[in-house]
Amino acid sequence: MFKLNENYLKLPGSYLFSTIGKKVSAYSAAHPDKKIIRLGIGDVTQPLAPAIIEALHRAVDEMGHAETFHGYAPDLGYDFLRNAIAENDYKARGCDISPDEIFVSDGAKCDSSNIQEIFGLDNKIAVCDPVYPVYVDSNVMAGRTGTYDRNTETWSDVIYMPCTAANGFAPELPKETPDLIYLCFPNNPTGAAVTKEQLQEWVDYANKNGSVIIYDAAYEAYISEADVPHSIYECQGARECAIELRSFSKNAGFTGVRLGFTVIPKELKCGEVALHGLWARRHGTKYNGAPYIVQRAGEAVYSEAGKEQLKEQVAYYMNNASYIYNGLKEAGFTVSGGVNAPYIWLQTPKGMTSWEFFDYLLENVNVVGTPGSGFGPSGEGYFRLTAFGSYENTVEAVDRIKGIRL
Ligand code: MLT
Repeated sequence: MFKLNENYLKLPGSYLFSTIGKKVSAYSAAHPDKKIIRLGIGDVTQPLAPAIIEALHRAVDEMGHAETFHGYAPDLGYDFLRNAIAENDYKARGCDISPDEIFVSDGAKCDSSNIQEIFGLDNKIAVCDPVYPVYVDSNVMAGRTGTYDRNTETWSDVIYMPCTAANGFAPELPKETPDLIYLCFPNNPTGAAVTKEQLQEWVDYANKNGSVIIYDAAYEAYISEADVPHSIYECQGARECAIELRSFSKNAGFTGVRLGFTVIPKELKCGEVALHGLWARRHGTKYNGAPYIVQRAGEAVYSEAGKEQLKEQVAYYMNNASYIYNGLKEAGFTVSGGVNAPYIWLQTPKGMTSWEFFDYLLENVNVVGTPGSGFGPSGEGYFRLTAFGSYENTVEAVDRIKGIRL
């Protein structure tokens, strides 16, 4: 008789954004006349930039001719894309990352959940609280998190690093030493950022303790302040202790196109074994490469026209972020984020729980956000709004929220 991976049975509830999706669909089916504004999941709404569309068309045409047709992509990514990434995302920022340390994939969500596979089950992970749920859930599935306590909504073998208003939503160095440290800055969900000096402390800590930092920099394009690092490799010593995850979803609108990459420097080793080789082995075995046409689209992100157009796209969303931030602040909400990230993190009013506020907004003003408690216990009493809506919907949503009388 076959056996299940029983770790899956330990997972409480469904994936956060699936739960929200189901609630919103049920409400929508019961109230077909209502215009629901979705500022929940961080999904982009603006069309792909013209430079990207042109690159996609060109690549599609190439696929229609035997001479320019492409079959399986190289499993670690095409050189044209890896070179463009190394040049623009790293060399241009003074970071020493070579193209062959870049592993192209179909997105940071998959990479952030798959990366734990190359580590032993007895590693202890540390996560920010609140946190992007994928980091924890993928470790639960692997059997690395111990038992779940329904009262505290925590796992016995996970080190939680609370990110609260008191610490500016930036975690403190944990008292118990973790093996694997997940950090995401600019942060999802709080929208907080850390300075280069603060990030350097983490790199020093990891090197001192023999830990690995898994650094999710999916939102780096939204950084507006000069002292906030775009990559962990801006810090001294990060090549020895850090893996970086990047996405094209938020900086270039690829949520429906799918493209991302992971960087593993060759110096990052466990004894004599380089993690680079392990991840290359995993990629080669389990992945057939992001599609040629998508990698050509990714290359266009780094063209002069692409860069210019995407700067405007990011500015469009950040204008929404300011509108939400200022509008809600004016209305008396306690808000943060929205300066270096496309997320606004607000305190729920009148002591409502995160889910109570979610239901209240959905039912009374037909606006969808994300309950903070869905990201972890320290998210209770908070709520996340995304700046990725259209400007018109963002204005309407904020005006509706401003009109609520609790
Ligand atoms: C979010 O809303 O947190 C993100 O869009 C989810 C993701 O990037 O997978």
